[in-house]
Amino acid sequence: MSRPELIRDPAAWQRRCTDARDAGTRIALVPTMGYLHDGHLSLMREARVRADARGRPGLSLATIFVNPTQFGPTEDLARYPRDLDGDLAKCGAAGVDLVLAPDDPGAVYPKDFQTWVDVAEVSKGLCGDRRPGHFRGVATVVAKLFGLSRPHVALFGEKDWQQLQVLRRMAIDLDMGIDVVGMPIVREADGLAMSSRNAYLSAEERGRAVAISRALGEAGRRAAAGERDPVALAAGIRAAVEAAGMRVDYVELAHPETLRPVERAVPGTRVLVAVFLGKTRLIDNVALP
Ligand code: PAF
Repeated sequence: MSRPELIRDPAAWQRRCTDARDAGTRIALVPTMGYLHDGHLSLMREARVRADARGRPGLSLATIFVNPTQFGPTEDLARYPRDLDGDLAKCGAAGVDLVLAPDDPGAVYPKDFQTWVDVAEVSKGLCGDRRPGHFRGVATVVAKLFGLSRPHVALFGEKDWQQLQVLRRMAIDLDMGIDVVGMPIVREADGLAMSSRNAYLSAEERGRAVAISRALGEAGRRAAAGERDPVALAAGIRAAVEAAGMRVDYVELAHPETLRPVERAVPGTRVLVAVFLGKTRLIDNVALP
């Protein structure tokens, strides 16, 4: 597999993408913060298919940028894992044509930068409440990446379920004309949702982390057996992850699109979890069957 072309300069990237779009090329984009795992690669493989969907070769793009504006002051921006060389090889194997990896945040946020995208309602609650400003940073950088890349379609993982809803809302509200596609969570063999932050876990913590997906699976089984009470389902999850030594940030049952808490658990209700395992914050979610 050949390595994709690496472009560092956002302006050069925009010229390239605009020329391709003007020439009628279909463009698919996967924005990432790098340290790629199989979850990202499933997005890239799907991007390849969707770029080529109109019977002629399209352009499959990935961006790698650890976006400072979505990290709070006490979060892990400085130690966020990075491996550009390894990432480029993985992008190549997943059929990516071009990678944008700005080497300086100043190239994305110049000195006089002052425009922010705030997706008001769906950014509230869940991670939005626990990480103030996070979704404003995500929406703003993704709006910029959309403007730079001019994609027809953009793909995001369902692990960040609230992020996906925020970005869908943004694309609709701002008439971006971009199809925002969510792709299923990719899991390790034992069920742990893949995440770049899993790299922070010690071997012992990694062993315990499986309790998160098991607790979600058990909630699904209870719902399938007739349990409709969101409080009871959340309590079961909370007890299971606490028994595995994790601190619960939130466990909530919410409407899948509005993310408002539900009073009755029904098929499709989203169960969303955030926990601290040691110093590492992990999130996961499932739809009730
Ligand atoms: O999901 C991520 O990796 C990031 O939040 C994103 C969408 C690339 C924006 O920085």
